[in-house]
Amino acid sequence: MTTGRFSDKLTMAILLVLMLFGASLSAQQNTLVINVDQGKVQINKHIYGHFSEHLGRCIYGGLWVGEDSSIPNTRGLRNDVVGALKKMQIPNLRWPGGCFADEYHWMDGIGPRSERPKMINTHWGGVTEDNSFGTHEFMELCEQLGTEAYICGNVGSGTVEEMSKWVEYLNFDGVSPMADLRRANGREKSWGVKYWAVGNENWGCGGWMTPEFYADQYRRYAIYARNYGDNRMLKVAGGASEDDYNWTEVLMQKIGPQGMWGLSLHHYTTTWRGPKGSATQFDEEGYFVTLDRCLKIPGVIDKHMTIMDKYDPEKRVALVVDEWGTWFEVEPGTNPGFLYQQNTIRDALVAGIHLNEFNKRADRIRMANLAQTVNVLQAVILTDGEKMLLTPTYHVFEMYKVHQDATLLPAELSCADYSFGEDKLPAINASASRDASGKVHITLCNLDPKNTLNLDTELRGFSAKKVSGRVLTAPKINSFNSFDKPDLIQPVAFKDFRLSGGKLSAKLPPKSVVVLEVE
Ligand code: AHR
Repeated sequence: MTTGRFSDKLTMAILLVLMLFGASLSAQQNTLVINVDQGKVQINKHIYGHFSEHLGRCIYGGLWVGEDSSIPNTRGLRNDVVGALKKMQIPNLRWPGGCFADEYHWMDGIGPRSERPKMINTHWGGVTEDNSFGTHEFMELCEQLGTEAYICGNVGSGTVEEMSKWVEYLNFDGVSPMADLRRANGREKSWGVKYWAVGNENWGCGGWMTPEFYADQYRRYAIYARNYGDNRMLKVAGGASEDDYNWTEVLMQKIGPQGMWGLSLHHYTTTWRGPKGSATQFDEEGYFVTLDRCLKIPGVIDKHMTIMDKYDPEKRVALVVDEWGTWFEVEPGTNPGFLYQQNTIRDALVAGIHLNEFNKRADRIRMANLAQTVNVLQAVILTDGEKMLLTPTYHVFEMYKVHQDATLLPAELSCADYSFGEDKLPAINASASRDASGKVHITLCNLDPKNTLNLDTELRGFSAKKVSGRVLTAPKINSFNSFDKPDLIQPVAFKDFRLSGGKLSAKLPPKSVVVLEVE
């Protein structure tokens, strides 16, 4: 009996200590100090770029339906998709690949569509590519979107002459064989394409080259990709995969700032080296592991940037993260070569974290491209026949568009951990900028799937008078927008904040992305 009563008391005492400890944990102050008067670096809007490859239903069915389709279109391009991408303020679009780019022969995609040769899309499902979407259709898409084209030339299976002629076809206004051919195909004026990638993943699907061999190839290809008129090409060298630091080292050494505007890097969340897992059927472990992998990517990027700093301390060469995003198993019953996956609030957080981390490195990262725009990997849009839905990732891009071309504000965050079992990661991720009109925007991700987190923000050198916000969250960690419930996850007004004595306190809901506008 006595022992029993003693153990009851002990249990009570332990519970009390745990409760107090727990209370102090939840009361842990999360703070963000933003130096509003110290911004120096501009966040290049091209960090918010996208990528559309001839892969699965990205181009065909996703962006392009053809002029005769019953789906409302303008010159073959889906009106609903174009409208949504414009609202998201898409700054650039990378095309035609990816791995497809190094097998693509651009001349197959010009002239009357019925006469264009067909090819096998060997990388992506072995399907027939009829080339009905080619250079003119892509440039028409860019014009409708009001976005910059970012074209990737073929180094792996192409020739220097082929790439050089493509540039002439796109960019030369005088009399020349390629400019005349363009005119014969119905386009008088050149398009003036600026952003140009010299091959893709040349360590793998783009030719399986060594970095030394590729660097020499780059120099040959790049020199014949000429500038015409006032247009200055911004050439991007095909960069490393993930943590292949040697690739970056060799290219920086052999090409350097004189020879390239940018150096690319590809890094997906969910490594190819491990199981990819389902995009929607996951538990808290799958949620935690994905966010943990995502948060490790900035460290990899930093190591590449340190190598770049060694050869280019003035940061003249841009780091171009032109493929990033989640890569999960395809949706059951779909073609494995089409990379069609759904998109949950977990993807939204991955997007929010990436964009915050890119913003914070805006002195070196001047362009990035999510893989991919429609129906492929971490898509911002999914389509099913005439139906279209916006994914949670779309909403993040739309909420974060306020950072495009704004001034990055130095900020310091101190926050609690989100723990899962023995492991933990910082529960909040943030970045801030000031736009041309003087408004401050803060984007915040609360990774904790269960707890609302209080965040106190101090805006140094700024007198805040008015705040408004929007929040994106979801009923469950694996909720997604389906064609039956396309608006389950969408941003709504955020009101859970208080501005007093110059301090801004906000309560961030679990698993959410929040944008605050401070005037
Ligand atoms: O985005 C899908 C593929 O991933 C791209 O074609 C390739 O560049 C990368 O391996």
